[in-house]
Amino acid sequence: MKNLSDTFILNNGYKIPRVGFGTWQTPDGDVAANAVKKAIEIGYRHIDTAAAYGNEKGVGLGIIESGIDRDKLFVTSKVWNTERGYDKTMRAFEKTFSDIQLDYLDLYLIHWPASPAQFSDWEKINLETWKAMTELYKSGLIKAMGVSNFKLRHLAALMETEIAPMVNQIEFHPGQMQTEIVAYCRENNIVIEAWSPLGTGRMLKNQTLKETAAKYNKTAAQLCIRWCLQNDIVPLPKSVNPSRIEENAEVFDFSISKEDMDAINSMQYFGGSGLDADKIDF
Ligand code: A2P
Repeated sequence: MKNLSDTFILNNGYKIPRVGFGTWQTPDGDVAANAVKKAIEIGYRHIDTAAAYGNEKGVGLGIIESGIDRDKLFVTSKVWNTERGYDKTMRAFEKTFSDIQLDYLDLYLIHWPASPAQFSDWEKINLETWKAMTELYKSGLIKAMGVSNFKLRHLAALMETEIAPMVNQIEFHPGQMQTEIVAYCRENNIVIEAWSPLGTGRMLKNQTLKETAAKYNKTAAQLCIRWCLQNDIVPLPKSVNPSRIEENAEVFDFSISKEDMDAINSMQYFGGSGLDADKIDF
């Protein structure tokens, strides 16, 4: 693990950079474009957006303006909850595609599963959404496909399809390691990505994390990102601030000791988004 372009290999052989650049809560337009340009300039090679973030145009503009060769970059987007099902997913992808202005996406995800608590036919809805993604994949418009926020039963229901998910993007940070779904994904060769690896900023106020980070002359943000990497999880830290975008990339010149990894791994929950795929109502 040497730099931002190090990769994991997905279960279809496609490479995914081990650190991504998050854009949830990044406003569209110049803010998104400048953040993405800055990230690419520093060396991030993996950009994560979603239709629901409302910033695909700005993200796409930043990518184009960066001048980077398309094949050097890994770009993800996601289909939103109101667009589940075969036809709607196809239309949602067209909109994403025209907003982001790229010839293909490296990864397309189902943003949240339809869950039994919300829909009696949740399994059918997810399978139909997955069918649309499979078709996009076969046509080459997306190079890999996966899910986000899927719990065990949601994911298990997709495993018998023609093409199994390659990625599950979940909330993952100290105190919220989602051990059950992480173990399941590992067993099934599904790469885990961490959204909000800084707990949307919450982790950075934690005294234990701050003290541990100080031992390495690092910030709590860098500690959290490095901790994801050492747990073989792909972190997607978000920032719109140039110096923090740089700070979050400086995670390859130190290594967290086994003792500290164990201590962070056993931290109890001390805050997170509180969102649960079986309880959401959006
Ligand atoms: P900003 O975009 O103004 O830098 P997460 O990736 O867990 O969702 O966290 C993102 C939040 O953490 C944003 O509010 C972001 O604000 C802030 N943030 C990102 N990197 C850092 C950092 N290195 N130090 C302090 N705050 C950070």
